[in-house]
Amino acid sequence: MTTSQPPAMSAARVLLVDDDPYILESLGSFLELEGYDVTRAASIERAVDSLAAGRYDLVITDVSLPASSGLDLLRHVRGRQEDVEVIVITGYGTIESAVEAMKLGAFDYLTKPIIDDDVRLSVERALQRQQLLAENRRLKQALSDRYSFDNILSADHRMAKIFEVIDAVAPTRTTVLITGESGTGKSLIARAIHARSDRRDRPFVEVSCGALPDTLLESELFGHLRGAFTHAVSDKPGKFAAAEGGSIFLDEIATASPQLQVKLLRVLQERQYEPLGSTQTQQANVRVLLATNHDLGQDVRDGSFREDLYYRINVVNIHLPPLRQRISDIPLLADHFLRKFQAALGKRVGGFSAQVLECLVHYPWPGNVRELENCIERAAVLCRGEIIELEDLPPALLDHSAPPPATTLAPAHAAVHLKSALAEPERQLILAALRANDNCRQAAARQLGINRATLYKKMKKLGIQA
Ligand SMILES: Nc1ncnc2c1ncn2[C@@H]1O[C@H](COP(=O)(O)OP(=O)(O)OP(=O)(O)O)[C@@H](O)[C@H]1O
Ligand SMILES: [Mg+2]
Repeated sequence: MTTSQPPAMSAARVLLVDDDPYILESLGSFLELEGYDVTRAASIERAVDSLAAGRYDLVITDVSLPASSGLDLLRHVRGRQEDVEVIVITGYGTIESAVEAMKLGAFDYLTKPIIDDDVRLSVERALQRQQLLAENRRLKQALSDRYSFDNILSADHRMAKIFEVIDAVAPTRTTVLITGESGTGKSLIARAIHARSDRRDRPFVEVSCGALPDTLLESELFGHLRGAFTHAVSDKPGKFAAAEGGSIFLDEIATASPQLQVKLLRVLQERQYEPLGSTQTQQANVRVLLATNHDLGQDVRDGSFREDLYYRINVVNIHLPPLRQRISDIPLLADHFLRKFQAALGKRVGGFSAQVLECLVHYPWPGNVRELENCIERAAVLCRGEIIELEDLPPALLDHSAPPPATTLAPAHAAVHLKSALAEPERQLILAALRANDNCRQAAARQLGINRATLYKKMKKLGIQA
């Protein structure tokens, strides 16, 4: 490669693909004179190798290459989902391939004979967009790193406190009671506690106490000897034995029978138990985590849950607020699930329309995060465009839509200014928080995880009167 003017350290990297040596040389030299770092490839194979070996900002490829089409290269680049733009070069009179290329996600096309000014402009614009996308992706990543704790995402200040509690309690052997409505993430929290403890390399055993009848549950937890009851045809170790050295997670603990509650109290107090039908006492080196969506305090007052057991398990209580009370988590989680499902479905859905976002933040989510996850999966499957629209939502959510606002949340690939694209969702979130807190700015600010002065400033900037 000859360069009359060495590219600067940060010169954009361009991969130029053409089987015509004259184009490779002349266009390549022109781009180098423009200050770009150019790699030339005379075949699609060479181009694919170069892409695998290095990072490029832009690919410029002829459409008609020997053996295969430049469109295949375009598909290859798009399939890698990287921030690389593609410009295709088409011969005179082959406009169909240019249209096809644009449909496949090319940024632009140039027709032969190539005119310097066209190249200059097209390359500049492609690189501007490429930088915007790369920056967008970087910001999104930084945002999700900031809000993610293992794989638990949240932007809510109360959840941030919970993450602190998890960090403090994880390395200890303390029993933790996790409460919250169904689908708020209790199981996820239990796993995070185990994963952050020094027991992480030992088993994490999950038992859903509500799923089994009392007698079976007891034998499931503590094991039994052959003949202990009618169907006990052989000895069977229980879940406490399986969790030895690790953690046991007792989900739906409120459903435990009085008899089982006694046994649990003993294992928590003395770390001992006997399998059914055995008189031999076993020692349990197991950390106990529990969850319930019941108000256990109320169950104690009603007499259905032992008070002594309640105090034994309620040493550290992590209470997960319902999703409707952490409005700032709704767009964050929706975006997270959308990315997860679009990757699984192989679709390129970039975001949500502002009306959809409005519905999402207003809907009360009785099934909490699980319901949101299912809703986004459904929408990702149904969505036919680049954006999730109202018609992709389940009917129950549509009662929570508002009159259509002026803007839509831009798809990740549209060349829009990030700030203006984020203004409308931000406005909606602030309005929702104010509504949820009867227009109390202090409470709304707290819910949004910002201070009151910031809220005032944002309200002023976004034209919100409260
Ligand atoms: N903060 C979060 N970030 C990412 N995913 C979450 C979050 N909270 C919950 N989820 C997801 O939502 C779903 C429900 O969470 P999980 O099963 O932990 O809820 P739960 O409170 O245990 O529900 P249940 O009471 O029905 O047992 C899971 O798929 C989980 O991965
Ligand atoms: Mg659960």
